[in-house]
Amino acid sequence: MAKPRFPSASSSLSIQRAAERLKAGHLVAFPTETVYGLGADATNELAVKRIYEVKGRPLDHPLIVHISSINTLDTWATDVPNYALDLARMFWPGPMTLVLKRKEIAMDFITGGQDSVGIRVPSDPVALELLNRFEQLGGPGIAAPSANRFGQVSPTSAIDVQKEIGNYLSSQDSILEGGSSEIGIESTIIDCRNARPVFLRPGAITISMVESIVESVSESLVDSDVRVSGKLGKHYAPKARVIINQQPKPGQAFIALSSFPTPNGVHRILSPENSGDLAKNLYAGMRMADELGFNELVIVIPDGQGIEVALLDRVSKAAKGR
Ligand code: TXA
Ligand code: MG
Repeated sequence: MAKPRFPSASSSLSIQRAAERLKAGHLVAFPTETVYGLGADATNELAVKRIYEVKGRPLDHPLIVHISSINTLDTWATDVPNYALDLARMFWPGPMTLVLKRKEIAMDFITGGQDSVGIRVPSDPVALELLNRFEQLGGPGIAAPSANRFGQVSPTSAIDVQKEIGNYLSSQDSILEGGSSEIGIESTIIDCRNARPVFLRPGAITISMVESIVESVSESLVDSDVRVSGKLGKHYAPKARVIINQQPKPGQAFIALSSFPTPNGVHRILSPENSGDLAKNLYAGMRMADELGFNELVIVIPDGQGIEVALLDRVSKAAKGR
């Protein structure tokens, strides 16, 4: 799928070099259709440890392993239920992570000591080419959390990655360019270790999309014992205090669909036409509110059962922070 890219995406040569750096144990931040990831060879413990250092993330938080296609899923996972294969065939490459029973290759330093592993095939062309080239060098998968410092807003452009973690990277690490992320919020995470799928994190692949493939879906996030960092109180949070679904007051920054007018004295940050555009630009908008020095950011989330569920999830977590 061709998409316009400004600035232009990384060249094949720079992607090849990045794959070589990964294989040599360095870090590579790369674009995906959801958000930018901070990648390391998922089988290299020292490299993966550096991800935690750069992010400032607690060591018991598991990482998603990115692979190039469903064909290599059985390198990482075992006892994959049929419904999970159906989901993978339908939504990969794409913004969906499946939590599955791990194989030995998924070591404790990837899974946070859990017996499960999160796997995703991203659809961004730079990500896929990186994964393919890394595989040709003998690398079975790239571990990559979002390329932000722990608890901060995920980056959706190479520049935001640079601003967020550039100071923590070494000269051997690199950042691949891929324009701004198509979707803009993190992947849907579905636990597929039981008779029916359990939604752990909402995203662009919605419950009703999953229900069109699998019969009964459980939404219960609460009683699940798995560790998902998105379940922590404060997360995805800008410095500004986030206020949800209120009329903005003078002096506040404001994000809402274009159908909402901007009251006098309120600083409009984004006016997207629809929920998809809101998702695509939300994190950049939060960053902008901080860069402009606003203390308060009002965000209006549209009603809806599509991407709106994920939008409300992320913004609610941002709002919990202060
Ligand atoms: O869209 C995305 O998923 C992005 C891009 C880069 O792929 N990645 C991402 O990674 O959001 P991260 O680490 O920021 O969030 C991944 C979430 C974490 O909350 C983690 O706890 C959860 O996935 N996770 C990973 N492996 C898991 C597992 N085995 N069981 C339960 N949760 C898992
Ligand atoms: Mg994250």
